[in-house]
Amino acid sequence: VTSGKGGVGKSTLSANLAVALAQRGKEVGILDADVHGYSIPQMLDVDQRPVTLEGMMIPPVAHGIRVMSIGFFLEEDSPVMWRGPMLHKVIEQFLGDVHWGEIEYLVVDMPPGTGDAAISLGQLLPGAEVLVVTTPQRAAQKVAQRAAVMTTKMDQHLLGVVENMTGGLPGDEADTDESLFGSGGGQLLADSVDAPLIATITLDSAIRKGGDLGSPVALDPDSAAGDMMRDLAEAILNIEAPAPPPPPPEARIKKPLPLL
Ligand SMILES: Nc1ncnc2c1ncn2[C@@H]1O[C@H](COP(=O)(O)OP(=O)(O)OP(=O)(O)O)[C@@H](O)[C@H]1O
Ligand SMILES: [Mg+2]
Repeated sequence: VTSGKGGVGKSTLSANLAVALAQRGKEVGILDADVHGYSIPQMLDVDQRPVTLEGMMIPPVAHGIRVMSIGFFLEEDSPVMWRGPMLHKVIEQFLGDVHWGEIEYLVVDMPPGTGDAAISLGQLLPGAEVLVVTTPQRAAQKVAQRAAVMTTKMDQHLLGVVENMTGGLPGDEADTDESLFGSGGGQLLADSVDAPLIATITLDSAIRKGGDLGSPVALDPDSAAGDMMRDLAEAILNIEAPAPPPPPPEARIKKPLPLL
């Protein structure tokens, strides 16, 4: 789950997508690849830490999802001040040295932009499916487009675009140019990169509250915002699966541990 731009809702959508997929009975992991700006442990209210077994990290489980984030290894509030090579190493370890088990979906919450982490993920997960998140305004759409273009350069597959924070006028749900973040950016981006607009998620304080409380709206069966997240997951499940990605390099294949 990526975007050229920060603050458009990548982490929020990643957390909700993981929850909604798990609720559909899928085995799901979520990898917080935003090493500098990690937020997934808080968004999913994970209260355990990984444990190490036979040299592998066993990820904690929250809401049925296996979770891995650099946040588990740091003192609270300490900033991560690493350059590219360290970032690459950590992301590589999170993919190769974590016992993800028999997961069907690994949702990767990307940091904003097309920098070190995106390049590492491109190299380590060729063939991954990429969701590009944008907000409706043109300025965001233009920046998000760069992340979409990068996808193809990294031999990943652009699954589609999600427009987030649509609408948002007090007393007016309309998606118009007078909306808080304008309108139409998602469709424009989808058209420009020749990918489907998979979902449009409206601006809704329940979504923000769910993130703040560590309880994503997708957990709430009665929430309209939760329905949007469930529809997003459903739409992704309905997209025909492409050919499986190439196997990882020999060096990263470890003897799998039994499922816990
Ligand atoms: N549809 C929405 N309605 C209301 N608030 C939202 C919505 N989507 C996200 N938010 C809120 O917007 C803020 C930014 O979201 P989030 O952290 O998911 O963005 P991000 O793209 O991951 O940011 P970063 O680039 O910093 O990683 C959060 O407070 C989140 O709760
Ligand atoms: Mg984020």
